Amino acid sequence: MNTATATEPNQWLAEEDERTAFRDYSTPEIERVRQFYRTNHIHQTYDFVLQKKKQWLAFNQRTMTPWAALDYLNTLVDESDPDINLPQISHLLQTAEAIRADGHPDWFVLTGFIHDLGKVLCLFGEPQWSVVGDTFPVGCRHSDKIVFPEFFALNPDHSNPQYDTPCGVYTAGCGLGNIHMSWGHDEYLYHLLKDCLPEPALYMIRYHSFYAWHREGQYTQLTDATDRANLHWVQKFNPYDLYSKNPNPPVLSELKPYYEDLMAKYLPAELQL
Ligand SMILES: [Fe+2]
Ligand SMILES: [Fe+2]
Repeated sequence: MNTATATEPNQWLAEEDERTAFRDYSTPEIERVRQFYRTNHIHQTYDFVLQKKKQWLAFNQRTMTPWAALDYLNTLVDESDPDINLPQISHLLQTAEAIRADGHPDWFVLTGFIHDLGKVLCLFGEPQWSVVGDTFPVGCRHSDKIVFPEFFALNPDHSNPQYDTPCGVYTAGCGLGNIHMSWGHDEYLYHLLKDCLPEPALYMIRYHSFYAWHREGQYTQLTDATDRANLHWVQKFNPYDLYSKNPNPPVLSELKPYYEDLMAKYLPAELQL
């Protein structure tokens, strides 16, 4: 699958020299984010993930149109995000418009528009520490390249010898699809849409918060050839997700017909959440 290369500046993306201001966890007001990751890292255990998969992958909550689910996201403020407190739908629209401005295929644009839709789990009462934030494998040793790694000392799995090796309960090279990730909106949305979108789109959705892999190069002992072939797609997606948090976003009402058509092309009319 070919995607166009941008030649003009993309109005929806921050310039290179502005990008160090994003994902900066060192400012004093970031205590909220620290506390978020403390809770996340303590409670995201192997057993917790299995329990959450059983609970949420039954998809027995309710039926909603994709638009209704997106509308709900506007009520959510992501506690893990150190950047702009922008309504979720504005973030999704900016991500998608930045992808579209670079001439990428329509499924890539749609992926940008829906990649955080799994945050509807918060609507169903799931706490944010189990929905948003960076993700990481459970059942094996925690990488020290994960954000706030010091908090893993408080995770019960940390002192379990079964998990405290590079591969833990998994086999080397087994592939990311065969390991359990910390529970969150990425994994949930992947399972919801796994029959609707091309493989690179599913990788973007499933692993966009797995910074320890796509940015830090960790956990390669567990990846397989398919993961390695798709890593560049996840990396290609990341700047659109991260740097398109512009306080003056595109106007949804003007763009709604385009995105309605795109959703109708790939997604079911109703999602069984
Ligand atoms: Fe996300
Ligand atoms: Fe996002």
